Amino acid sequence: MSPKKHTMKYKKPAVESRPKPAPAEEEKSKKTAAGLALVRGMKDILPPESALWREAHQVFERVAGAYGFEYIETPIVEAASLFIRSLGRSTDVVEKEMYLFEDRDGGKLCLRPELTASVVRAYIMHGLQTLPQPVKVWSAGAVFRYDRPQAGRYREFHQLGCENLGEKSPVVDAELIALAYNFLRDLGIPVVVHINSLGTPADREQYLVELVGYWKSKRTYLCEDCKRRLTKNPLRILDCKNDSCQPVIAEAPQIIDWLSDDSKGFFMRVLEYLDELSIPYVLTATLVRGLDYYTHTVFELYEETAEEKSQNALGGGGRYDLLAEHLGGQPTPASGFGLGVERIMSVWEKRRAATTPAAVPGAVNVFFAQLGEQAKRRSLYLIEELRREGISVHHNLAKSSLKVQLEAANKLGATHTIILGQKEVQDGTILVRNMDSGIQEIVDQKKLKQTLRRLLGVS
Ligand code: HAM
Repeated sequence: MSPKKHTMKYKKPAVESRPKPAPAEEEKSKKTAAGLALVRGMKDILPPESALWREAHQVFERVAGAYGFEYIETPIVEAASLFIRSLGRSTDVVEKEMYLFEDRDGGKLCLRPELTASVVRAYIMHGLQTLPQPVKVWSAGAVFRYDRPQAGRYREFHQLGCENLGEKSPVVDAELIALAYNFLRDLGIPVVVHINSLGTPADREQYLVELVGYWKSKRTYLCEDCKRRLTKNPLRILDCKNDSCQPVIAEAPQIIDWLSDDSKGFFMRVLEYLDELSIPYVLTATLVRGLDYYTHTVFELYEETAEEKSQNALGGGGRYDLLAEHLGGQPTPASGFGLGVERIMSVWEKRRAATTPAAVPGAVNVFFAQLGEQAKRRSLYLIEELRREGISVHHNLAKSSLKVQLEAANKLGATHTIILGQKEVQDGTILVRNMDSGIQEIVDQKKLKQTLRRLLGVS
């Protein structure tokens, strides 16, 4: 039976095509005089950005936990065949971007280019299908793709991801989108969800015949990459960012018109749940995602900006009901998403800078200044005591001038400086200086902890 062509009945997309990526901005690897260099497309994450980085992970853990997801960790190195089988041989990731290498015993390995296939492998290998379903896990970590480095595109980058395995319900897809959406909202990043349905392989069969016919009729207008994709991965042409291809893509047949009634019904319910959750979305007929394992719902999240401007996706995901079976497991409906941490950090840092310029998590609360040998010795004990209370204390025991120490306290952004001199050591007191007002109070050393807790608002 050949699938029928269906007509799209729901509202027209507000935005028809996905935003284009940021303009190329080559990141050259810089060599130091000592000949040290970062591998191209990789970067260090240094303080103070690293504190924000950790905070983003903590927020994600909290939000994922609230939705009932538990943490899973899988190895960075996997058998290359896992991704070749999962993502598809003709995808860019497998064809051009995998970091492949041979183990000493000749085994073909790779640095993972994403997290989903590893989670599914673990689910099958450890018999997680025997647990009450669905199994809901979140993971975080470095992934590797040998892509051309540019703004928001690295060769080592980090993902935060959630996978829901073992439940075929449109609510699952809507809830995953809500999780990603709310996480980004909690960071203060408003996002818009671009969404589409790829249906089942059966839905796609007839659509692909139609699509290839259309591409062939417009072959001369397609870029060289797309001409190559025409035989290897015709669906991916829809995702081409090349300007010359855009008019052809705009007129291409839309998969939504070829979905079976069941697939369309499933997708409609995902959209209804999103409406219920007040999550804004844009139906995006050209959204096909870059990995082969998707069926039904696919989505991507973009920062919502005043003007529709080119930007990179902050995250993406979708349903992959056939992947577990394809990898040798039992049939297992599944859905998930991955978020790009570097891209989120870049947007988050800009937005934070605009609203709270001085607020840096992990900033030093207290600087401990000491004057003289006896004070230095006594300060070691007092500093330890404060740190045990969870108060972040910095000091510079190598310096003895008060002026130099106060300057250091200012540079670190300490709100208070504690000053211990010879006299204070003798009479058991200590000075607490408010760095903003310059006002100092004399405190009994035994009451230092309580005083600081009060001043810093630590419970
Ligand atoms: P993906 O769209 O390939 O999906 O990657 C997810 C996110 O990782 C992207 O939206 C983007 O934010 C970030 N990303 C991708 N490539 C780069 C890069 N070169 N540099 C920086 N960031 C990048 C997946 O990986 C799927 N495993 C998602 C998923 C989970 N689908 C179902 N479950």
